[in-house]
Amino acid sequence: MIIAIDGPAASGKGTLAIKIAQHYQFAHLDTGLLYRAVAFLLSQKGLDLQDEPQAIAMTHEITEAVLADPHLRGREMGEGASVVAALPGLRAALVDYQRKFATSFPGAVLDGRDIGTVICPDADVKLFVTASLEERSQRRFKELSAKGQSYTYEDILADLKKRDERDSGRSSAPLKAADDAFLIDTTNMTPAEALKMAIRIINSKR
Ligand code: C5P
Repeated sequence: MIIAIDGPAASGKGTLAIKIAQHYQFAHLDTGLLYRAVAFLLSQKGLDLQDEPQAIAMTHEITEAVLADPHLRGREMGEGASVVAALPGLRAALVDYQRKFATSFPGAVLDGRDIGTVICPDADVKLFVTASLEERSQRRFKELSAKGQSYTYEDILADLKKRDERDSGRSSAPLKAADDAFLIDTTNMTPAEALKMAIRIINSKR
């Protein structure tokens, strides 16, 4: 069974994907990490984030150790990931890995921006997870403050707004809900409530 989860940054899709995978004992792939890893490897080598051939070359250097590097999860790499993610050649280079992951296990959950539309258009269940920009900014702000990082709420809101525009506006695999995706708006939901709703949807498809 393949479960595709898409949605904008800080919508709760990552947390939901992890909880769904735990609940059903499915494998989980956070596909955003792949783009973050490419941005990270390029910046480590002092290369331009818009350099498509180099970005494609970096996909061969994505190792478990790179994916586990805490720098990947920071604000800067989120920003960098959304820049490299607009390169069509890089997106194409990452397709096979994601599809192979999706079909290598009895059950797999993949979360990202284009899972239901491009990577796994035949997924058994597609969820589009969203929340208001203000709520998402508030969540990200709390998360980063808890880690001791001193960004203001306004910084985060501006960041997410820019990222939403870049992710939705790009020509290659823009962020959008698949026609057959179930919408989960987590603005006024706890993670437990979102999980309950997702489980109800998934169980109806099993
Ligand atoms: O989900 P996360 O915030 O880690 O993703 C970082 C960036 O990677 C996103 O803003 C988006 O530009 C890109 N991305 C993508 N397609 C995916 C996953 C992430 O374009 N499937």
